[in-house]
Amino acid sequence: MPFPPILADALAPFMEAFGRLHPLAVHLPIGLVAAAFLVEAFRAVQRRQDASPFTPVALWIAALGAAGASATGWVFSSENGSGEDLFWHRWLGVLATMALAGLAWMASRAAGPDRERAVNATPAVRGALVAVTVLVAWVGHLGGNMVWGTNHVLEPIVDAFGGTGSPGDGGGAAPAASASGDAAAPAAAEGDARMTFYTSKVLPLLESRCYECHGNGKRKGGLQMDVRESLVSKNDDGVWIAQPGDPAHSLLIERCLLPAEDDESMPPEGDRLKASDLEVLRTWIADGVVMPETASPAAGRTAERRAGDAGREVRPGTGAYAAGLAPLGTQEVAEAAALRDKGINAVPVAAGASTFVVSVPGGKGVDDAALAALVPLAPRIEELSLARASVTDAGMMQLPQMPAVRSVRVDNTQLTDVGITALLSRTLDAETVNLVGSGATDRIFTMLAKLPHLRRVYVFETKVTAAGIDAFRASRPGVDIVVGQGVPGTSTTEGPPITP
Ligand code: HEC
Repeated sequence: MPFPPILADALAPFMEAFGRLHPLAVHLPIGLVAAAFLVEAFRAVQRRQDASPFTPVALWIAALGAAGASATGWVFSSENGSGEDLFWHRWLGVLATMALAGLAWMASRAAGPDRERAVNATPAVRGALVAVTVLVAWVGHLGGNMVWGTNHVLEPIVDAFGGTGSPGDGGGAAPAASASGDAAAPAAAEGDARMTFYTSKVLPLLESRCYECHGNGKRKGGLQMDVRESLVSKNDDGVWIAQPGDPAHSLLIERCLLPAEDDESMPPEGDRLKASDLEVLRTWIADGVVMPETASPAAGRTAERRAGDAGREVRPGTGAYAAGLAPLGTQEVAEAAALRDKGINAVPVAAGASTFVVSVPGGKGVDDAALAALVPLAPRIEELSLARASVTDAGMMQLPQMPAVRSVRVDNTQLTDVGITALLSRTLDAETVNLVGSGATDRIFTMLAKLPHLRRVYVFETKVTAAGIDAFRASRPGVDIVVGQGVPGTSTTEGPPITP
């Protein structure tokens, strides 16, 4: 450090602020180089033999701007960058700055009043301008990778047309309804792709860098990173640890970006995470923090502590959870009523009750984002109907535990086994489950078998088969499976009417 320590401390915030000008500073040289390139390309087409007077001016300003971008970038990198991308971005950036200064000098000659010298110098200037433009674009691309992630630009296209290769966000890519023969397959595969991403990329990283203090039973700062409930929650300050879909507002990322000397930086010891590691974590959070459910008792306690219901048993048995809740306050009821605007109807089960009945009269207009409004109500929902909503499997993974739920409806949604399983694993006390017209297949019986209080399931207009139903009936004779007339070959074709 070239400054005496006290001065350095006093200057630190200014240095940091200076560094943060980097994203602003870089655009000036990029714009000017692009403009010079276009002007000269146009003149070349017109067969003009000398360079435009605009070109050296633009390039000189670009060179100055690039010097500013390099200086701010150098400072900025201590806060926001590491790894291989940074190495190349930094050094190619410096090279580009020097190349720009040289090119600006050459261009001054090519656009000068000495006609013969200008005509002679111009071809070299134009050639070098092409090279420098490519260089600057490449440096910008590397910088963009660090901020936005690799393939940020092409990602929407790849997601739309490239199938399941990259873990997309599931929103638009999920198939519409279950009407067509194999509609469930792509969504299920997409869920699988994200699970594979977790096990192959995220888990090894967390294991090697975080589990020492936040996994395998360790819970420094109250955080257990092998328990999804603990990750997808707010800490005592009300800050999200990992907010599904929003890495930028997730403490997990924020802590890893802090400079090593910061007391709160994570991991507290050893090297900073590489840019590519951060990228993995960002992608994972952006895609909904998909990971296996861990139904450990500790997870329940964490959820409960975070839900502010300390000391209460989470799942003692049917209805008992709800019975232990205090009656709803007028404030809570009023807040729930305000969800109307989002197409969600949340009303108390009865006057003076402690739980809500939630439905979505907004139907197709209610999507994953709208469901986020349910999070504060989650511990108090007794009946949850998502019938006809345009929610996706990924959206289900973003829901919190809903221990009071006794009735679940996902009829006429595009949900597949992946999303329905995620939802049911959050409503383990459910007694009635309505799957009519959803993407459910026989695989859903694996999850249904885990619901100890299950009494009735509606499965018509799904891909559930007679064989699947018979097998489930044999293992759970007490459960009513209502098939309507939709599953030929089953022993019962009629059942009690569908839940209201
Ligand atoms: C050597 C032990 C250690 C390691 C390794 C470690 N942490 Fe931590 N972490 C802590 C301690 C201690 C706290 C609580 C004190 C604090 O908040 O700074 C904490 C707190 C946190 C918090 C805040 C939790 C809250 O509820 O506010 C986050 C987020 C976090 N760590 C993320 C990570 C991540 C991500 C990694 C791996 C890249 C990691 N930590 C690795 C020790 C560790």
